[in-house]
Amino acid sequence: MPIWMMRQAGRYLPEYRKTRAQAGSFLDLCYNPELACEVTLQPIRRFGFDGSILFSDILVVPHALGQDVRFEEGIGPVLPPLSAGEIDALIVGFESDPERFDRHLDPVIETVERLRSALPDEVTLLGFCGAPWTVATYMVGGRGSPDQAAARKFALNEPDVFDRLLHCLAEASVRYLSRQISAGADAVQIFDSWAGSLSPAGFQRYSVGPIAEMVEGLRARHAGTPIIGFAKGAMHALGPFSAKTGVNAVGLDWTIDVAAARSQVPDTMVTQGNIDPQLMTAGPDALDAAVDAMMRGSEGLPHVANLGHGITPDGQIDQVHRFIERVRAG
Ligand code: CP3
Repeated sequence: MPIWMMRQAGRYLPEYRKTRAQAGSFLDLCYNPELACEVTLQPIRRFGFDGSILFSDILVVPHALGQDVRFEEGIGPVLPPLSAGEIDALIVGFESDPERFDRHLDPVIETVERLRSALPDEVTLLGFCGAPWTVATYMVGGRGSPDQAAARKFALNEPDVFDRLLHCLAEASVRYLSRQISAGADAVQIFDSWAGSLSPAGFQRYSVGPIAEMVEGLRARHAGTPIIGFAKGAMHALGPFSAKTGVNAVGLDWTIDVAAARSQVPDTMVTQGNIDPQLMTAGPDALDAAVDAMMRGSEGLPHVANLGHGITPDGQIDQVHRFIERVRAG
């Protein structure tokens, strides 16, 4: 069973914290191909994962569309929340000159090229982007929030502008992922981290619809590249999500039993996940039990071992070693 870990390059690693300090700001690190390549490789060197995920962030997309994006210590991302008029202006700007969007992301594409030549052939290189809904929650709300109320409110009050924004993000993200694939990404993951705050109708319209549009656009250009869809918090809708978006693989958060997840998707579909990231902060017994349950629940079916969300800065390096050893021991 292949294994990698969401946020495997991050603050729980001393070597990451060192390079991060050297880079300046977090965004400086994302746009520095040499250092972004270095932090991507750090967890591969230390742990020997089977998958390596490009080091970048989902918010480089709104940044490339012309919205200001900052990362503040202890807060996370901070963007100036956009009005309906400002959103329309960003969309018009993108449509009149999409190459400007591409140029802004050139350093990230260079990181992918460097990674492909630095990584051993047997390590899968994963590209990624945020799903339109999750990226839009930051563009409209200005920062992370527990329930994405600002974006849900905006979608209800300005439905046409919001649909246009999601369509624009889907189109821009297809351009971006397509370039990552051409530069050497073997597979791509679409993160819908805030899918769990949507109503059933909202989930269909704002998560499933735009991701399906992206899958169609990517398939037309890169028929053989696997696409992983991760609708965090929406495990109740895993079956329809996998069928209607057309993705090849689905990410599982830690709220669902793997066997229950497997019963909702075809046997040929790949599942990925779903160890609770908090298990990386506690003792070995609970982790072992969760790994064993994941392996039993997916026995004989295609599953990629991973966490159910990113490892947190207080994740323990010993626990990561234990996770890998237990998966590899079968
Ligand atoms: O190793 C990897 O997984 C690749 C790198 C990666 C990062 N962000 C680096 C990062 C990936 C795939 C992301 C995706 C991302 N970014 C998502 C989707 C996945 C998820 O976590 O739900 C989201 C919602 C974001 C937006 C974002 N970026 C937030 C909310 C934060 C702050 C939270 C935090 O952990 O501080 C970030 C910052 C961020 N992105 C860090 C890293 C390593 C930490 C910042 C730092 O080093 O100072």
